[in-house]
Order: sequence, then C-alpha cells, then structure tokens
Amino acid sequence: MPKQMGDGVLNSLTPALDLAMRGGDNPDQEINELEKRIAQGALQRFEMNPVFTDKGLRWTYYWTHFNVFWMSKDPKIIDLLYTKAPYPQYIEVETTTACNLKCRICEHTYWDEPNVHMTFPQFKHIVDQFPSLKWIGMTGIGEAWTNPEFERMLRYVKGKGIYVELYDSFFYTDDEKARLQVKLGVEKIFVSLDAATKETYESIRVGSNWDLVTGNIVKLDKWKKRLHKYFPELCFHFIVTNDNIHEMVDYLDMIRELGVDVHFVQFTRMLHDFPEVKDQFVEIPEDIKEAVLKRGQELGIQVGWNATVPQHKPPASTCLAWWMPFVFVDGTVIPCCALNEQNDRRWQRGTSLGNIFEKPFREIWWGPEYTEMRRALHAGEFPRNCDRCPIYEVDE
Ligand SMILES: C[S@@+](CC[C@H](N)C(=O)[O-])C[C@H]1O[C@@H](n2cnc3c(N)ncnc32)[C@H](O)[C@@H]1O
Ligand code: SF4
Ligand code: SF4
Repeated sequence: MPKQMGDGVLNSLTPALDLAMRGGDNPDQEINELEKRIAQGALQRFEMNPVFTDKGLRWTYYWTHFNVFWMSKDPKIIDLLYTKAPYPQYIEVETTTACNLKCRICEHTYWDEPNVHMTFPQFKHIVDQFPSLKWIGMTGIGEAWTNPEFERMLRYVKGKGIYVELYDSFFYTDDEKARLQVKLGVEKIFVSLDAATKETYESIRVGSNWDLVTGNIVKLDKWKKRLHKYFPELCFHFIVTNDNIHEMVDYLDMIRELGVDVHFVQFTRMLHDFPEVKDQFVEIPEDIKEAVLKRGQELGIQVGWNATVPQHKPPASTCLAWWMPFVFVDGTVIPCCALNEQNDRRWQRGTSLGNIFEKPFREIWWGPEYTEMRRALHAGEFPRNCDRCPIYEVDE
C-alpha cells in the first residue's frame, strides 16, 4: 500500500496535483469547475479507501468522474451536458462480431453479419481519438476472447489506466485468462449466465456448457483471492425470458452456492422483441421483482435492475446515454448500446452518426447529425437515430 495512505500527506489539493490528476484544464469554465470539485472528492476517496489507494490517484479521479456524470439524474448535469456537449470521455467498442455460441436470446444467432475481428491498429485508432478517455466497454455483439488481438487491446487500455468493463460468457475464460484479467486490473466483468440450472442454461445458451462456465467463474474468483485483489468486480447478468423467469429467485441461491464474491446481480429485460425472439420476450411482473429483492436481502446479494426493466419509461430529455457512443466493429458510430439486439443492423447503419474509420470522431461529434440528435433529445423528441429506443419515451 502506498506510503501516503492515512498519512494525510495529500490532504489538500494543490494546483499541481489537481492538474496532474485531471490531465489538464477543461476548456469550458463551467465543466472545469465541476471537474475540480470531482478531483477534490477523488482525493478524499483515494486517501481513505485502500481499494482506491491501490489503484492510484488518477484512476480514482476517473472512477469519481464516471460516477458523477454517467446517467446522472441531476437536472443541472443533464442540462450542462446537453448545452455544452463536451467531447466524450466514455465509449463502447465492439472488438469482434465472432461468437461460438448460438444463444436463443441474441441477435447474433439470427443475423447475416460476417464474423469480423477488429484489428489492434483499428482499436488503437479509435482509442487514441479520445485523449481524456476514462472508461471503456470492450464488448459488442460477439465473444471478445475469440479475437486473437483482444489481450493486446486490453493491455493497451490498462496501460493508460482506463476503467474497463466487459461482458463475458465465460466460455473461454480459463485459468490463464482469469489470472491475466486479475493481474491487469480489469475493473468489472459481467458474467452472462441466464439460469439457475444446467438444463435451462444450456437450452438458452446453445453450444455452451454449464460445468465449464461455472468452473471458469470460480477460477476467476480464486485468482482474485490468491493475488489479494479486489478487482475485477464480478457481476452476474441474467436476461429474463419466458424460459427462465421462474428461476430468478433460485438464481441468487445458486450464486451463493458457487461461493464467489459477487458485486451485484443484474436482471435485464430483452432489449427488443424482434420476430425470432418474440416468444421469449417478457416484462417482469412486480411480485417476481419483490420476491427477488427479498431473497437478495436475505442472502446479502445486491440486486440491480437494468434500465429496460421499469415499465414506466422516463422522458427522452433526461437521457444521457448518448454521452457514451457505441462503435461497431466496422467503425459505424451509433448513439448508445440500447439500440443493439434488434437484429437490424441495416437500420442501425442507416441511422448512424458516421464512421470513425472514415472521418475523425471530432468531426462526427460536432457534425450536423449528432448536433440535431442532441437538440431533439434535449427538446424531448426522438431524433431518427433513437426512435426505436427501448428505454425512454418522448416527453408528454
Ligand atoms: C451480446 S453479449 C456479448 C458478450 C458475450 N458474448 C456474452 O454473451 O456475454 C453482451 C450481453 O448482451 C446480453 N444479451 C444477449 N441477448 C440480449 C437481448 N436480446 N437483449 C438484451 N441483452 C442481451 C448477453 O446476455 C450479454 O450479457
Ligand atoms: S449472447 Fe454473447 S455468447 Fe451468446 S450468441 Fe450473443 S454474443 Fe454470442
Ligand atoms: S436510443 Fe434511447 S438510450 Fe440511446 S441515446 Fe437514444 S434516447 Fe438515449
């Protein structure tokens, strides 16, 4: 643990320390003032919590920044982001569209897109366009570990101290990959496991193997404990369908029995009800939600509901998801990840904001399509890019 922990050596934010942490002043004065306050909060967190001390001051600032801005409900922050549209500091990149499984819930099983791996130079070309990048999601529609250059991509962003979030079927996450991710300090991994029993799981995730996957989950947890590391935080992701809704409560017991440290369990409604999955699509009734929350409390497991779950949708003018652009493997830029999983990439490309391999992202971000998209959302309307949004609705 670094020497300064508890010594109070850094108990005030000097201008030099402030700038070192933030990587420079933000050109917008209002945002700069807010970022300075965030830096002050980050310093306190860094001094008081060994998890943050271990990760470093700059990382603590990144974490705090993300937790202040991302999907904020604070009207002042919402208004600030809409009116200033600062250059994004969080992005999602689809590192591959290849996948070995045929999950019945997923568009990948039904679409006619080619299996393509993003190359490392392409990935670097994207990342390098975001000099203040603080957070990256490296999962799209595909299985990241099938990409032979995925490890190199991970090393690249971890070398920059960026917070990394992944979704993983855990089909490929063997001992070696588990150890690697713990050593690199990948921050958050969602295990995609949508059932409490082997039978239901293997009927949904066609081609996978319950024993292999649950064994791999335990391996990752073991490496964390062996190397005395808090990260990656392990979250469980359960896509609720007509086929597994009856296993939601038992799911929490199953996780407890696995004996691994769980950060939280997220239940998600299918994003879209495209024809091939219509029979599986279900909204989660209130009584089931209550039973799940109750069991979570009894077991000491935190339960989270994806933004798709509430049936009463918030107004479009409060959406900030557009501040985390999603980049397809071919460079297409779409507003956010919520437009995935509708098995219609043709529509997604037709309503995209541009292509990062053809134009610098700065030009795309300040271009007419993005500008109009932000204007419409701020006014509570759906721009053409968002009119299939599964989360928000047009303001009344
Ligand atoms: C598309 S997968 C890609 C990563 C990896 N192959 C996996 O399964 O974790 C990313 C996440 O999307 C989820 N997902 C799959 N089909 C979905 C659907 N129709 N609606 C919402 N999420 C879905 C998966 O369960 C997974 O957690
Ligand atoms: S959910 Fe993940 S593992 Fe399953 S088919 Fe889709 S991309 Fe592949
Ligand atoms: S699709 Fe929905 S969540 Fe995504 S940016 Fe548009 S309004 Fe926001």
